[in-house]
Amino acid sequence: MAAATAVAHPNIALVKYWGKQAVDENVPATPSLSITLQALETRTRVAAAAKPRLCIDGRQEEDAKVRAFVAALRDAFGLPPLAIESASNFPAGAGLASSASGIAALVAAVDAAFGLALSPAARSQWARLGSASAARSMFGGFATLAASSNWAAGPLLASDEWPLEVAIAVTARTAKPVPSTAGMAATQATSPFYDAWLATAKADFAAGCGAVRQRDFAALASVAEHSCLKMHALMLSSRPPLAYWNPATVAAMDTVRRLAATGVPVFFTIDAGPQVKAICAPGHGTAVAAALRQTAGVLEVLTSALGPGAQAVPTDA
Ligand code: DP6
Repeated sequence: MAAATAVAHPNIALVKYWGKQAVDENVPATPSLSITLQALETRTRVAAAAKPRLCIDGRQEEDAKVRAFVAALRDAFGLPPLAIESASNFPAGAGLASSASGIAALVAAVDAAFGLALSPAARSQWARLGSASAARSMFGGFATLAASSNWAAGPLLASDEWPLEVAIAVTARTAKPVPSTAGMAATQATSPFYDAWLATAKADFAAGCGAVRQRDFAALASVAEHSCLKMHALMLSSRPPLAYWNPATVAAMDTVRRLAATGVPVFFTIDAGPQVKAICAPGHGTAVAAALRQTAGVLEVLTSALGPGAQAVPTDA
């Protein structure tokens, strides 16, 4: 029976995606730029089966989004029912991009199990249909997701070309109250700032990509914090408001700002959840992680280098 295992890593957007121009095909309204993390991973095994089965972190799941995505894959490639077992080494649904690594690993495993031999762009486009941020987890290092490549993600710079370090301040372990997809729909329908977000997105993306190409940390810090705070302004100005932060989120942002003010090369970004991701220039991750561990309300700090794209692995690896 056909079977394969793949590993994928979550990614963190430095220039954010928030909002869709086509909901059915999951086409983002704005281009985005991300880094893929090495230390966090999702491992997914896919096998042909008599009956479909989805098991996430040891629990049988009835996830409608994953179910619809698997149905589309089966239709397109004439696949049998799939038994899918997926496990992550970090909490799901808490703003650590478990859907990105989960969908990316699933596509890579299906590709390998059934010998589909999809191109990197086709794998990324398939991942995008599952969750747009997953398209970027197909690539390691710095990745972009933009209209110019027909909304397939692509690589911008490899991890070892600018080995930034990441410290993640975990401030809550529970799943987020409003998932990204629903949050985006609410923002598009109700935030008065959404048009301004669209109008400024391309310039932010160009500035972010330029900063990465030049390895200009200060320029990347400036555009990334701006993109993050602008996205949270959209969220807060939605009706009802989407407020993902808690007191420890704000305290961790203050820690990053205090370090940056004393010359430490670090900036923060926050996604649809309360965790604060501190992005550090090479060699500064350990000191930043130590400062975040001293911050009131921070439960745990994870550290990571930049990592590789999704790939199939030997099943027992
Ligand atoms: C805040 O990719 O999870 O992390 O495409 O609806 O599945 P869907 O949404 P998703 O949204 C990610 C939003 C974000 C920003 C980003 O990753 O660019």
